[in-house]
Amino acid sequence: MHEGKLLTFVKSLAMLLETDPNEELIFSQGRVLLENLIKVDDWLPPEFCKPHPQYYQQYLLYADPLDRFSVVSFVWGPGQKTPLHNHTVWGMVGQLRGQERSSNYCQQSDGSFKADGSVVCKPGQVATVSPQTHDIHMVENDLEDQISISIHVYGGNIGRIERAVFDPITGTEKLFISGYANTVTPNLWNTTVSPT
Ligand SMILES: [Fe+2]
Repeated sequence: MHEGKLLTFVKSLAMLLETDPNEELIFSQGRVLLENLIKVDDWLPPEFCKPHPQYYQQYLLYADPLDRFSVVSFVWGPGQKTPLHNHTVWGMVGQLRGQERSSNYCQQSDGSFKADGSVVCKPGQVATVSPQTHDIHMVENDLEDQISISIHVYGGNIGRIERAVFDPITGTEKLFISGYANTVTPNLWNTTVSPT
C-alpha cells in the first residue's frame, strides 16, 4: 500500500536520530528529508491549514514519544508575525505554501537586540535555527494577500518546551510555553486525504 508522505518523513527522521543525533547530520540529511516532504503541496489535511483571524496558528502534526522531535504546521494570515523569540533546540523550517521572512537578531552588550539580516523562504526551501549558532529570530508572513504555511521540525516537543520572547528594545525576557492550536493530530496511516 502507498505510504503517506508524513509517515515516510517521521519514520526516516526517527531512523536518522536513532543512528546519530548530531546537529550537523540533522541539518544535512534531515534537511533533505524535509525538502522531500514539502516538495509537493498535496498532503497536509485542510484542518491543519486553517488561519486564525488574529493569531498565527501552530498545529501539532506529530510528536516523537521520546521527545526527540516534533513536526508542526505553522499557518500565518496576512500581516501576522511572531514576537522576537528563541527555541532552545535545533529547528528546521520548510516552506510549504506562501512566503515567510525570518529576521535574525543579536543581543548587544546593553541587552537590546540588533537586526542581523533576514531570509525569505519560498515554497520548497528550508531554513534552520540552532542554539549553537542563531536561535533568536522574528518570523512574519511575507505576502500581504495570501496565507503562508510552513512545516517546522524541532529537536524536542516544541509546544511543551519553556522558552522565551524578548523585547527588542529593552532586552527583557519573558518565559512562555506555546502549546498547540489543535486537540487531535493527523492519522499518518490515512492515504486518502485530498488536498484543499
Ligand atoms: Fe521560530
